[in-house]
Amino acid sequence: MAGAEAGYVCQECGARHRRWAGRCESCGGWNTISEEAGAKTTKRRRRGRSLHFASLDGEAPDSPRSLTGLGEFDRVCGGGLVPGSAVLIGGDPGIGKSTLLLQAVATLSRAGKRCDYISGEEAADQIRMRGRRLGLSDAPVRIATATDVGDIVAAFDSADAPHAVVIDSIQTMYVDTLESAPGTVAQVRASAHELIRLAKRRGITVLLVGHVTKEGQIAGPRVLEHMVDTVLYFEGERGHQFRILRAVKNRYGPTDEIGVFEMTDSGLAEVANPSALFLASRASGVSGAAVFAGIEGSRPVLVEIQALVAPSTLGTPRRAVVGWDGGRLAMVLAVLEARCGVALAGRDVYLNVAGGLRIQEPAADLAVAAALLSSFADVPVPEETVVFGEVGLSGEVRLVSQADVRLKEAAKLGFSAAIIPSGMKARRQTLRLTEVGHLAELADRFADEPGRRAASGG
Ligand code: TYD
Ligand code: MG
Repeated sequence: MAGAEAGYVCQECGARHRRWAGRCESCGGWNTISEEAGAKTTKRRRRGRSLHFASLDGEAPDSPRSLTGLGEFDRVCGGGLVPGSAVLIGGDPGIGKSTLLLQAVATLSRAGKRCDYISGEEAADQIRMRGRRLGLSDAPVRIATATDVGDIVAAFDSADAPHAVVIDSIQTMYVDTLESAPGTVAQVRASAHELIRLAKRRGITVLLVGHVTKEGQIAGPRVLEHMVDTVLYFEGERGHQFRILRAVKNRYGPTDEIGVFEMTDSGLAEVANPSALFLASRASGVSGAAVFAGIEGSRPVLVEIQALVAPSTLGTPRRAVVGWDGGRLAMVLAVLEARCGVALAGRDVYLNVAGGLRIQEPAADLAVAAALLSSFADVPVPEETVVFGEVGLSGEVRLVSQADVRLKEAAKLGFSAAIIPSGMKARRQTLRLTEVGHLAELADRFADEPGRRAASGG
């Protein structure tokens, strides 16, 4: 078969090339191509063993999940750790991955499930010191330092394997059959492969820590994400104390769930009511801010969206976004300009989602538009009002899901009014609802405002 030939293979996307090149033509990655030996063809192929087939409706034991006791972590995992599964936790260096996992396995081990923590980055003393700082010294979790995957597999490959093992981090691990250095794509992939096989064979939950490279990908990128059962990202702004754990892939649960934590001097504290936290330092009566009633996974979350529209001195005005999609902002700006006659072309636009949250829902469109219009007209969005709705290219405001859940959360946090898409049919509302069918109606509300200081400038 031709596929068994030796050749040059891109380690990122798997494309085959006839000769080595600095850049992969198929995915554009630099320095990703390396030579791979072909399969040995001298030996005659062994006849395959016959497969054992089973039917779908056979007995399937409900795999008992282990709850770590860190509620936010368990929820993002889809309701606890699944035995024999591999979980990858990615994030920037220093964001708190080691802290989170030490807390998770320590609380799990207190519940009587054996857990081990293997570090290739820190000495046992350092981990012990962190444990003391986190108040976990009494937890019966065992710690060890190792980087040779062969040693690790040998240590756990027995019938009395522990419940969960943390590998901190996959980039420090190596298998001695490969010559490349730890941290290279080949080593990361081979090490993860060995550890995942161990997990399946012995029913251990393997938690792999993966540092993310500057481009926002886990080194040894896509290959690792495909190999594991669950991929979690731990993110947050370095200057903020909030940390968000997000599931981006989960074979055993939903993928849009988030867990919110706060980094304190004694470790990560769970945040049961994220909305209250995200709105905590909100200033009242200022223009350019709108509260968006969003849904993150199974939970409603209220966040403040801040916009600043200012006359530009540049030929091409600046557009800067933190916490939202830049392409989506460009679309909302274009709709405001073309369908609502709001002249934003010669102005710099800055958009920020307060608190370090990253929003992905299209339902934020209307809240973003409200913040932009408010800043442009220098008129505050009415006090105690939440906003949500999707905006289409012709300027129409579209319905979004779970309106009732969003409005209930808003009422719970003391909001008294909401700007929503028209035709929403919200049930039994205590909030004053303003329905908007077209974005121009929202623009008019700001334009007609008597207190308007007129954005004449540019
Ligand atoms: P760490 O878990 O080592 O990050 P990672 O493993 O992702 O590289 O977290 C390091 C940061 O967390 C460090 O800047 C100090 C801070 N930190 C606290 O603020 N409080 C604590 O209790 C701990 C243990 C760490
Ligand atoms: Mg660490």
